[in-house]
Amino acid sequence: MEILILPSPSHAERLAARLVADRLRAKPDLVLGCATGRTMEGIYAELARMHAGDGLSFARARTFNLDEYVGLAPSDPRSYHHYMREHLFSRVDIDPANTRLPNGAADDLPAEAFAYEASIAAAGGIDLQLLGLGSTGHIGFNEPLSSLMSRTREKALAPATREQNAPMFGGDPAAVPARALTMGVGTILEAREVVMVVTGAHKAEILATATEGPITAMVSATALQLHPRCHVLVDEDAAARLQGREYYQWMFENEPEWEAYRS
Ligand code: GLP
Repeated sequence: MEILILPSPSHAERLAARLVADRLRAKPDLVLGCATGRTMEGIYAELARMHAGDGLSFARARTFNLDEYVGLAPSDPRSYHHYMREHLFSRVDIDPANTRLPNGAADDLPAEAFAYEASIAAAGGIDLQLLGLGSTGHIGFNEPLSSLMSRTREKALAPATREQNAPMFGGDPAAVPARALTMGVGTILEAREVVMVVTGAHKAEILATATEGPITAMVSATALQLHPRCHVLVDEDAAARLQGREYYQWMFENEPEWEAYRS
């Protein structure tokens, strides 16, 4: 794992978008794992800008999203299907047929979860997985005690997660669906590269726990410490509680891999 500390949230978002763009240019049929949440909005806006201004093409790309609320139809404006259309799919040249999210409105959720895993495998696996970090330390919707080997399945949401996501449901945590279909921690760990983006002072404590704390199923993001190619992009505020911040800063300023990304 590497932690890159950037001066501001928009610097972190732009760097994440540049990494996606570089991987996409190197492999036009990239399999991109998409996340949702407020942190991702700036990344998708930057990718849309690169499409419009720099000719970045998603024409051959395929995407798989992490999760979807159970009970929300893809047409529901609060669904992650809607979120993805609004923030990315409608703003770039991706073929809608190549975009997949779990269907939270499926009648048979275990069958849907199984089919979702099968379609990721049929696509050859995920090349680059984008992640945000939930306030419970979750990745996707892998709430406390999620098995670190879990696969796509239905999961009950923690009260803190419903609280965090209440603004998208009129401010009422009780209006947030109680369950979600989510890729498992094991599914996420199989992505060939992972980019997690974490910004804001409110994430400082959970970021330190997730990256520098012991690996535990209580905090599913700690499993990323096992991943051989995981980059964590953070802003100064989110980095405030990191014990190793001086080393991480030195690493970003000196490692040849990041030279092109420092300006
Ligand atoms: C939701 C998603 C997560 C995301 C998290 C962070 O819970 N299921 O995948 O990482 O939100 O959200 P935000 O970026 O709004 O803080």
